[in-house]
Amino acid sequence: MTDTQKTATLSLDGKSYELPIFSPTAGPDVLDIRKLYAQAGVFTYDPGFTSTASCDSTITFIDGGKGELLHRGYPIDQLASQSHYLEVCYLLLYGELPSATQLEDFENRVTRHTMVHEQMHNFFRGFRRDAHPMATLVGVVGAMSAFYHDSTDISDPWQREVASVRLIAKLPTIAAMAYKYSIGQPFVYPRNDLDYAANFLHMCFSVPAEEYQVDPILSRAMDRIFTLHADHEQNASTSTVRLASSSGANPFAAIAAGIACLWGPAHGGANQACLEMLKEIGSVDRIPEFIARAKDKEDPFRLMGFGHRVYKNTDPRATVLKQSADEVLELLGVEDNPLLQVAKELERTALNDPYFKEKKLFPNVDFYSGIILEAMGFPTSMFTPIFALSRTVGWISQWKEMIADPQNKIGRPRQLYLGETARDYSDIENR
Ligand code: ACO
Repeated sequence: MTDTQKTATLSLDGKSYELPIFSPTAGPDVLDIRKLYAQAGVFTYDPGFTSTASCDSTITFIDGGKGELLHRGYPIDQLASQSHYLEVCYLLLYGELPSATQLEDFENRVTRHTMVHEQMHNFFRGFRRDAHPMATLVGVVGAMSAFYHDSTDISDPWQREVASVRLIAKLPTIAAMAYKYSIGQPFVYPRNDLDYAANFLHMCFSVPAEEYQVDPILSRAMDRIFTLHADHEQNASTSTVRLASSSGANPFAAIAAGIACLWGPAHGGANQACLEMLKEIGSVDRIPEFIARAKDKEDPFRLMGFGHRVYKNTDPRATVLKQSADEVLELLGVEDNPLLQVAKELERTALNDPYFKEKKLFPNVDFYSGIILEAMGFPTSMFTPIFALSRTVGWISQWKEMIADPQNKIGRPRQLYLGETARDYSDIENR
């Protein structure tokens, strides 16, 4: 961040206030209003934070107009095609691509932490069988602070590092356990000879009764889904993690808060909502009816998996995943699946519809990830947990950046109060 010496002038009640302007390395200039209240006695009003930078960061950059997503400067399409998830994790966490030795060391550290404390199995068993895996995930990840006491002191960089590796390593195990529990199958322990994505597929789909071979095309597609969801700058769940941990909360509690936020259908829950919508549409001939509903201002229905707060052009992650979806569907020989036919026709129709064109509503990452996960055999309820485990590294990288920032202070937004002014309490018999 550089101070450009540029300023903006605010005129208020006959007085002028100079607001410094920062120039980022990429993206629009940023007005510094930190002293505004102290100097001018006013707050700014920005529900939904559409014009507010809540922090400075060096991790991820998005140009929504261009459809560009960079992690530490590297374009997402290059990372998705030439790198792999754990290397991208290293990049997000430590700022640079690793050397071969650094990567090997990091992969070893993550692999060594994939098992969860055996007593956590009991914790799982406290949930109802039909609990949504996201509900289980929020609870179990929060409970990690009750199992790993030696990595909850956020003032100790070593403990922060251990907590980071634990979370990245254990989230796939916890997500897979939530799935196994929901279908009444035994938990499957992680296998250290498999890579991160293959191990996750193994923990979800293998059973003790028979041998399970992970198809390399499927594990590659899984790895891509992880990579494409790894971080997305200051979105709702990441901002939740930052806000929760700004109070000094431990990392497990803060990540559990992020998972809770991600669950919503306007955010990570959209992949599940999208597949449920495709099922509700059911057949290609009903698509016009649903497109008409999405365009009707009187109808709250929206096409799930379309539109994005930041991307007003193609979501670059969706472009990569569309290709993966074609590969996976071909491998599994399910191109004729009626649900997937609906998805393809819906995509084609919406992309050619003037309403969606004018409002710049393109398919987002959730549209294609849902199709791939459905084809792989995941139930829709597992879509958002898979997003959560992929995003854990992004949340942790942003959390680590925040804790290390000397300017870090508790997040405390202001409000535009429109309620009653002070009035006297009246006894119940006088109301
Ligand atoms: N279907 C129909 N119309 C839509 C859609 C949609 N999916 N998305 C936006 N619009 C319309 C709105 O009605 C609005 O129309 P108006 O200008 O006539 O009032 C206009 O497009 C702009 O929409 P906003 O809601 O103002 O855009 P915002 O940036 O706040 O919302 C969001 C972005 C929440 C993602 C929205 O597009 C949406 O609800 N999409 C469906 C849910 C979804 O797929 N979420 C996943 C997001 S990606 C992620 O979390 C990984």
